[in-house]
Amino acid sequence: MLTTLSVDLGARSYPILIGSGLLSQRGILDPYLRHRDVLVVSNEIVAPIYLGPLKTLLTGSRIASVILPDGEQHKTMATVSHVLDALVEARYGRDCVVVALGGGVVGDIAGFAASIYQRGVDFIQVPTTLLAQVDSAVGGKTGVNHPGGKNLLGAFHQPICVLADTDTLRTLPDRELSAGLAEVVKYGLIADEEFFAWLEAHSEDLLRRDTAALGHVIRRACELKADVVGEDEHERGRRALLNLGHTFGHAIELKAGYGEWLHGEAVAAGTCMAAEFSARLGTLDPAAVERTRQLFRRLHLPVSPPPAEPGEFLAAMGMDKKVLAGRIRLVLLDRIGSARITGDYAPHELADYLREQFVR
Ligand code: NAD
Ligand code: GLY
Repeated sequence: MLTTLSVDLGARSYPILIGSGLLSQRGILDPYLRHRDVLVVSNEIVAPIYLGPLKTLLTGSRIASVILPDGEQHKTMATVSHVLDALVEARYGRDCVVVALGGGVVGDIAGFAASIYQRGVDFIQVPTTLLAQVDSAVGGKTGVNHPGGKNLLGAFHQPICVLADTDTLRTLPDRELSAGLAEVVKYGLIADEEFFAWLEAHSEDLLRRDTAALGHVIRRACELKADVVGEDEHERGRRALLNLGHTFGHAIELKAGYGEWLHGEAVAAGTCMAAEFSARLGTLDPAAVERTRQLFRRLHLPVSPPPAEPGEFLAAMGMDKKVLAGRIRLVLLDRIGSARITGDYAPHELADYLREQFVR
């Protein structure tokens, strides 16, 4: 079954195609490729499994490919340069199309390269992890890490199509599946209490990769994300809510070393921290914090950060892109299904919370 959702951005609107077996549906990408030159960007894990099937969808195009090393530690400017070199070497013009085949790391790198090659060329996302299918492939955030901070370098550059073949999730390691579910829980927490309750009731189905359950979460997550992005593409307001748990989470990733904690794992622990901090400020019922922790535990996700020095952790949080006039703005919860972004708390409250968190 094919579900088509739309990200509505006027002339730059694009479809999200979701379904089983899409990588064997000849012609499905033809309307977006129109026989143009294609550079496929993938990595050493994904390419051996899915580059062959993808190529059957690219008939009529001149195809080059670049295979990147695997891992978050390679989400760097050096790797972006490698992709740009491949585009130059192939002598591709402004009318070429970059196709990202892989998880969020490949998608973020390929999308960023596409955003700057000849001041911007088209790109297509073919996400192969749950995290990428529910989040990173949609919405046009592209970029790489800097040793001083997560995702500090990048650009908004929307894809012209997202093709999410849910069959690719069959080869995904269990730990990566759980990491993707962290971003799924996020949508329930910020916008949809009923969806959160559905996740509580279906956590076992999701962990055993029930096709219908996974299809439901991918569609619901993409619906919610498409709605937010259509309203606030450049994160001037509501889109920031999608960063629930990320200010804490990015600090976890940075302090642990890129690639040590999976992004989704850091988001899960970071979300628990955001929920605890919300309860500490009196906006969230402690019972909701416990429900959140319970759901992450059931999905085999961490609910607290690794040991860190509180001052260093706070400094890492200070490199977040939501910082405004030196103030760390956080996404906090009012209840399950409702969140807000705020810098309206006494700075010592956050420092005190971190001290207590890490000195236990
Ligand atoms: P990832 O891209 O590193 O993929 C996870 C692992 O699974 C990798 O080892 C990968 O090679 C492997 N893999 C991918 N597909 C597979 C498949 N079908 N079968 C077997 N193995 C497969 O990680 P991710 O969780 O997909 O993405 C995390 C990244 O996404 C982070 O860098 C994060 O910052 C970024 N992100 C970006 C956005 C955005 O809006 N752009 C949103 C959320 C996260
Ligand atoms: N993953 C957060 C966003 O796309 O805005």
